[in-house]
Amino acid sequence: MSSAAAIALLALALSAQAEFSAQEKARLLAHGPWPPAPQRDATNRVSGKPAAIALGERLFYEPRLSGTGSLLCASCHEPFRHFQDARPRAFGLAETERNTPSLLNVALYRRYGWDGAHDSLWSQSIRPLLEPREMRATPAQVAALIRTHYPVDYQRAFGASVPADDEQVLGDVGKALAAFQETLLSGRTPFDEFRDALEHGDALAAARYPPAAQRGAALFVGKALCSGCHAGPHFTKSENHGGFRVPGLRNVALTAPYMHDGSLATLEDVMRRHGGAQLSSRERDELVAFLRSLTETLQLQ
Ligand code: HEC
Ligand code: HEC
Repeated sequence: MSSAAAIALLALALSAQAEFSAQEKARLLAHGPWPPAPQRDATNRVSGKPAAIALGERLFYEPRLSGTGSLLCASCHEPFRHFQDARPRAFGLAETERNTPSLLNVALYRRYGWDGAHDSLWSQSIRPLLEPREMRATPAQVAALIRTHYPVDYQRAFGASVPADDEQVLGDVGKALAAFQETLLSGRTPFDEFRDALEHGDALAAARYPPAAQRGAALFVGKALCSGCHAGPHFTKSENHGGFRVPGLRNVALTAPYMHDGSLATLEDVMRRHGGAQLSSRERDELVAFLRSLTETLQLQ
């Protein structure tokens, strides 16, 4: 290609780009950088500790943690399905009324569960163990499993032998599970490349981001007011609205169906029923293009 043709193509690519106001640009930059700096949970004494992460990972795949010996965390939070189950509502030992959320980036929330009822990842991790429709275990059973099968792993993770108090062991199982889940972060996305290109004033790199996604991004931080709730690098303020905690949106295109009860099958449905009422159908499509650009690049290949 001649350099004149290359320059003409570049000019064309740049003119197809959405124009962002200084305010929109600042808001887009606030959705990064990604990945975030590692954070420790001050309420979990083994947060970030390699031996606890290793124990938590083993327990995540341990069916004997359930009352029937047949269910594991990964039965619903399936690693090859982005740590969810693709069902509208979770089914453990019985059906529940809630959709299984992905566990990717779960460390970045401050409240847990669809209704934000738990304020730590480790307390949220105990809930499914005791819930009769999920794993139906008891503190005594969980503690006995650790004493019999994991005494060495426990010692390494917590620096002490397994305590006599069953409730304390249950809490520590939650803490090891949480330490493992804190390591589950999603990868970089086309949006992250675009966001960093905006930050560095690299118009050529920014132009690689599809025009529909660019217009969707402008809507997301502007007229459609999405970023008022879906804020920051994880696309959530982690606060409740209308009774539910605002969910993060990274990899959201991979985790259908949607909402607390799994009632909406596609992102198009979500845009018709949630937040997009004042928008044209073209604008809703642009928002969907933007949401799809929050998918980690490895999963797009
Ligand atoms: C029967 C399916 C099922 C099993 C088994 C299960 N979960 Fe869940 N998980 C769910 C559902 C459903 C929710 C949403 C619960 C709610 O909001 O009330 C959830 C929510 C969570 C959350 C909160 C995520 C967020 O975005 O706030 C965490 C953390 C979690 N589970 C971890 C675990 C761990 C650890 C285990 C194993 C000890 C486990 N889960 C076992 C279905 C399951
Ligand atoms: C007032 C706060 C608020 C605003 C504004 C908002 N959302 Fe949400 N969003 C939520 C809450 C809360 C939920 C979960 C609701 C539920 O489960 O019933 C949610 C759920 C979603 C989901 C489904 C996520 C999942 O994993 O199931 C998507 C996608 C979404 N929002 C995108 C958007 C977009 C795009 C906009 C702008 C058009 C927007 N939201 C505006 C609070 C908000």
